[in-house]
Amino acid sequence: MIDSDEYGFLATDDENAPGDEWEEIDVSDTEADRIARRRDREFDEFRKRLKDADQFKVEQSVFDDATFAAIYKLVQDGHIEAFGGPISTGKEANVYEALGSEDDSERDVAVKIYRINASNFRQMREYLEGDPRFEGIGNDKKQVVLAWTQKEFANLSRARQAGVRVPEPIAVERNVLVMELVGLVEDRARRLAEVEVENPETAYEVVREYMRRLHAAGLVHGDLSEYNMIIHDGELVVIDLGQAVTVHHPNAEEFLRRDCRNVAAFFGRQGLEVTSEELYEFVTAVEADPSGTPDRDDGTGPET
Ligand SMILES: Nc1ncnc2c1ncn2[C@@H]1O[C@H](COP(=O)(O)OP(=O)(O)O)[C@@H](O)[C@H]1O
Ligand SMILES: [Mg+2]
Repeated sequence: MIDSDEYGFLATDDENAPGDEWEEIDVSDTEADRIARRRDREFDEFRKRLKDADQFKVEQSVFDDATFAAIYKLVQDGHIEAFGGPISTGKEANVYEALGSEDDSERDVAVKIYRINASNFRQMREYLEGDPRFEGIGNDKKQVVLAWTQKEFANLSRARQAGVRVPEPIAVERNVLVMELVGLVEDRARRLAEVEVENPETAYEVVREYMRRLHAAGLVHGDLSEYNMIIHDGELVVIDLGQAVTVHHPNAEEFLRRDCRNVAAFFGRQGLEVTSEELYEFVTAVEADPSGTPDRDDGTGPET
């Protein structure tokens, strides 16, 4: 039996059936693009302050004006109060901690900023292709990165609705995603790869249940490993859902098999006798029901 309390399984949210977040992705010019073009004095001052801030200094060249404008918009909308330091500088994105100001109960947030120029555009394209949510996305690099950021937001919402513990998505603007910070600024969540897993059996049962719930909701993570699961206060949280695809994706099965191999290998090293085949069987035992996914077969597309 899984000690569900220990890892805080979420109740599945039946009232809000999966699919509600399956809105059409709009990568046309946002308010942030307009702010960047307008460049009024207030934005100029904001941009200068941010560029001069210590945590942005080293990489001021990687953020363009429209990215600063997206941050500006998120501050204006009340999602970010103040920036903290960087948590991670990855290949495609930087993650910062920040003070959020959601409904006055200030809480810490994580801000993931995709870098439009550094992004591995070609690889992103492959993940987007075959995903019915992203049909019609052009070859424009900027649009692909914007769609990617919105996809991570949508994937987080869907995973959450399916009862998988992921960071709560808060807001998305252009290439900037604001989400719940897991852990605290002063007590940061650790990746599973960095900690001594106290109870590998329980952790494994939680992970495979999360994989099953994700799959049942029509999603495959696509980059699941001990590097994309973090742990705080005994709670295991799945992160980094930007590349997650729906089960319709031509490579979904291959991605799922790879996820199973990574997870089984990790827990094998923790001393468990698990095989990736057996994990795959467990995860796929419940049939995927991605209800709400636009049915494109009839050629009419989703109703809007
Ligand atoms: N919501 C979050 N709360 C706490 N830490 C986070 C959060 N999101 C990301 N991180 C930290 O940032 C790192 C990179 O984030 P991730 O989404 O995996 O981006 P990347 O695509 O660069 O791998 C993670 O390994 C984790 O340490
Ligand atoms: Mg990652």
